[in-house]
Amino acid sequence: MASINAESLFKKSDDLLFDPALIPAELQMTLPSGYVVRPLSRTDNQTRSNTSFLKTLEVLTTVGAITDEAFQERFQYLKEHSDKYFTIVIEDMNVPATTPRSATSSSPSLVTPGRGKIVAAGTVLVERKFIRQLGLVGHIEDIAVAADQQGKKLGLRIIETLKAIGQSQGCYKVILDCSEKNVPFYEKCGFERKGVEMGWYV
Ligand code: ACO
Repeated sequence: MASINAESLFKKSDDLLFDPALIPAELQMTLPSGYVVRPLSRTDNQTRSNTSFLKTLEVLTTVGAITDEAFQERFQYLKEHSDKYFTIVIEDMNVPATTPRSATSSSPSLVTPGRGKIVAAGTVLVERKFIRQLGLVGHIEDIAVAADQQGKKLGLRIIETLKAIGQSQGCYKVILDCSEKNVPFYEKCGFERKGVEMGWYV
């Protein structure tokens, strides 16, 4: 796949969480052949497509049973705040669709989200502050690479994409919390230790 970017691969569609043009073309080029990075789509619920966004998140923690209606409701909320929530996925388009969606692309040069298999995901959440002259901070959350896809630099590409999106939104820093065992991974992604994570669970 030469000279591709998310904008040329995916129609700017109401199905996508945000404008795919925010994903730098050069990041698309660094992925393995047939893999694409794109915004989350409202069709990424497993019950509607061949993809497995929620399944991918299970490498992080329990996801639970999420109905199609609940998925759509949450997606719609994120979409209505699409200057704040940027969730991306990497889809392996080499995987043949077993449950094709009814809607197909009208152009063969355009990729239909959900025709392949989602293998990685991540989110950057843009916080609007008063300090730093109304500064913006990006919070990276829920980075997940499917167990059988780890070690292919997909995690790195997800982080690079989220950093680029955060920068494009005007964030003066992008931060995240992680476990000790993931520190070397995030150091490889250009992060350094800052402060201490604290938590309060209800
Ligand atoms: N320890 C040391 N180095 C690591 C580790 C690790 N645990 N994980 C990755 N690396 C290194 C790789 O060796 C590679 O180094 P190289 O460039 O020298 O070859 C580099 O980091 C990039 O690795 P990737 O192949 O991009 O890593 P991967 O695609 O496997 O993704 C991730 C890493 C996201 C941690 C994945 O293993 C995963 O999904 N784990 C389970 C869920 C998880 O822990 N997610 C992170 C939660 S924290 C958060 O969401 C903010």
